[in-house]
Amino acid sequence: MNKLMIQPQVKRGRIRKELQGHFSEHLGRCIYGGVYVGENSDIPNVNGIRKDVVQALRDIRIPVLRWPGGCFADEYHWKDGIGPKEKRKKMVNTHWGGVTEDNSFGTHEFMELCRQLGCQPYVNGNVGSGTVREMGEWVEYMTFDGISPMAEERRANGHEAGWQVPFFGVGNENWGCGGNMTPEYYANEYRRYQTYVRNYRPGERIYKIACGSDGTNYEWTDTLMRIAGRYMDGLSLHYYTVPHDWQHKGSALGFTRADYVETLQKTLRMDELITRHSAIMDRYDPEKRVGLIVDEWGTWYDVEEGTNPGFLYQQNSMRDAMVAALNLNIFNKHCDRVHMANIAQLVNVLQSVILTEGPRMLLTPTYYAFKLFRDHQENELLSSALLTEETQGDLPALQESVSLAPDGAIHVTLVNPGPDESREVEISLQDQAVSGASARILTGDMNAHNTFDAPDTVKDADFFDFSVKNGVLTAKLPPVSLTHFILS
Ligand code: AHR
Repeated sequence: MNKLMIQPQVKRGRIRKELQGHFSEHLGRCIYGGVYVGENSDIPNVNGIRKDVVQALRDIRIPVLRWPGGCFADEYHWKDGIGPKEKRKKMVNTHWGGVTEDNSFGTHEFMELCRQLGCQPYVNGNVGSGTVREMGEWVEYMTFDGISPMAEERRANGHEAGWQVPFFGVGNENWGCGGNMTPEYYANEYRRYQTYVRNYRPGERIYKIACGSDGTNYEWTDTLMRIAGRYMDGLSLHYYTVPHDWQHKGSALGFTRADYVETLQKTLRMDELITRHSAIMDRYDPEKRVGLIVDEWGTWYDVEEGTNPGFLYQQNSMRDAMVAALNLNIFNKHCDRVHMANIAQLVNVLQSVILTEGPRMLLTPTYYAFKLFRDHQENELLSSALLTEETQGDLPALQESVSLAPDGAIHVTLVNPGPDESREVEISLQDQAVSGASARILTGDMNAHNTFDAPDTVKDADFFDFSVKNGVLTAKLPPVSLTHFILS
């Protein structure tokens, strides 16, 4: 029998809601068509933003949204995206399909999206091809409430008050698409650019995020912390779950059992990456003041056949839900160092929570994984340990994280990643009895997914296959499942 032991008295830190953040880039149909359809569209919208998408994201309590990229960020010139739409510059989106970017979605539209979602904006500035002045002026334009050229321009464009910008990224992947810089060069550039990311709003400090490593580039983290650590609040980390290799990623659906196991094994590397980057950061920042910001993560498969290869559109199955659940548990367990994480990307790109096709929308299995995690937001992580039976197909038998809500309820998200076997588990609390519980589950065949014609094939449901006796909860968890227990 597997055992999960929880220590309700041992708190390990706050699970910031931002661990369940999202990322939206001007890429494929993420912004255009996915989020923004324009005021004149037949698709129901408020100020051009899709009502159905907003409602779905509000339901999972989206806490923060990163924009406008990604690689796009280091080619984005924000002044092209303000003022009357008919006068906005049209440009080529060189990174993503070479399509025309008409800039109809710019700063005002992004802030309006965040307002409708009730989430915090995380704006990513341009270091690769932008100037220090351009970045400084963007911050002034967005946030300053006094008299200044940028604040006046914002008012002339219809927005009297400045916006809150809690998070600002200084460049993206500057070791690659953001300028091919060496770590030393970028670290010095970061010091210079961030100087002009001013705090214009009394009582509010912008949380500044430096571009961090890709996967295992530990030298990058070391150099950044050494040269620029004291000037940053966060350092990013990007890690995509790519089955096989970048040339042969395989498709999002119709994969084999072996592909499934390999994908989950690869995603579990996130734990090691965070541990090792965090250990380097500890050398310069033992107090863990600087957060690790995993602002791009998720699965990356071959694009769906018949779609624009530059648009990175892929379907989403229970395999992706398992990837999401395993990562969200890992982030919770590292909440002392991980301050934010943003899955790539919001709609229609890579591991999306939502797919759209014209007026139609579907919620993916990954969406339902986020739904089952939302109650962890802002809770205290509790100490927990699993004593498990044999692994299955080189995957852990079970994986979990546990948190304490302000109302005293204990939330457990328990994953049975294995493709074949149900797992029995006993859940107990140290020095305390479990007196009652409720649970919801997400489960299905590893290839199960939702389509526009059958949008409800995969969704969460009430779970009753458990009992509480003598203060211990016993449950039988099906293979390929995520279960959220609320213990009282
Ligand atoms: O999410 C797609 C791309 O992946 C982003 O633009 C870039 O930052 C990363 O390489």
